[in-house]
Amino acid sequence: MAGYVEEEARVLVNIEINPGIYHLKIEAKEIAKKWQPGQFVNLLLPAGMDGIPFLRRPFSIFMASKTEIGIVYRVVGRGTDNLTQLVKGDSLNCLGPLGVPIKRKIEPSATTLFVAGGMGIASIAASAIYSGGMLLYGARTESELILLPEVTGGLAERMLISTEDGSFGTKGLVTDLLPAILAVEDYTGIVACGPRGMLKRVKEIGERYNRSVYLVIEERMACGIGTCLACAIKAPEGYLRVCKDGPIFLAQEIVL
Ligand SMILES: Cc1cc2nc3c(=O)[nH]c(=O)nc-3n(C[C@H](O)[C@H](O)[C@H](O)COP(=O)(O)OP(=O)(O)OC[C@H]3O[C@@H](n4cnc5c(N)ncnc54)[C@H](O)[C@@H]3O)c2cc1C
Ligand code: FES
Repeated sequence: MAGYVEEEARVLVNIEINPGIYHLKIEAKEIAKKWQPGQFVNLLLPAGMDGIPFLRRPFSIFMASKTEIGIVYRVVGRGTDNLTQLVKGDSLNCLGPLGVPIKRKIEPSATTLFVAGGMGIASIAASAIYSGGMLLYGARTESELILLPEVTGGLAERMLISTEDGSFGTKGLVTDLLPAILAVEDYTGIVACGPRGMLKRVKEIGERYNRSVYLVIEERMACGIGTCLACAIKAPEGYLRVCKDGPIFLAQEIVL
């Protein structure tokens, strides 16, 4: 039996929290009930002015209450641009929750180190909060950091922030923080989500310090349920589907 449902959800909130970054909260009772940290939803975005419908687009669910799910999204193209037009009360077709929950790969604990780059925060924040582990969180500049209480609340004591331009936290790349922490702290597993270059670097540093590294991959998708192969990622032997076999993988399972 499929673990996901298709649900006509109701928009509760859709507001710009940072320039070009939105917080979307929707009432999606069935998906909220089933969601586990690390899973995502495939949204059927509204058609634009031209009326051309979209393929679905995947977004991490960063939190769920009994009846609601929360998403943070960056406007990068026509689909996400159209998404900004939704207002309270609009309906939105959702397929989810999809993908393998993080805890099916690694049981997050106080000895897990989380590394998030940019929008990658959305897929790992919940696990970081519940686990008691530490979060390294980086963005290009302060206005790209998502510091909503629901996303990073409760992590203040366990979070180190970096920005590339030094406008908030330590100046530099988030991966610059890794070697010093791994040299002195007893983190056995690393879970990372962010741009591909960041993931490559986390893998390299994690392996140098002999830690297990898990990577959450954000690949372009279509069906989101494992049938179309649009999200195939190279593995040492053949290919894996990011939507169905992931989005979290042990670093050795995939070729970046
Ligand atoms: C499992 C998963 C979880 C995701 N979670 C989030 C999230 O929480 N918040 C968020 O803002 N985004 C997230 N994304 C990325 C999001 O799906 C894309 O930004 C979105 O689909 C873009 O749609 P669009 O129609 O606006 O842009 P398009 O017109 O389709 O593309 C615009 C530009 O963005 C690039 N792009 C589109 N999709 C992706 C992708 N999946 N990965 C890398 N580049 C892409 C394109 O190459 C192009 O350059 C996630 C992706 C996956 C696979
Ligand atoms: S998006 Fe269709 S198989 Fe993954």
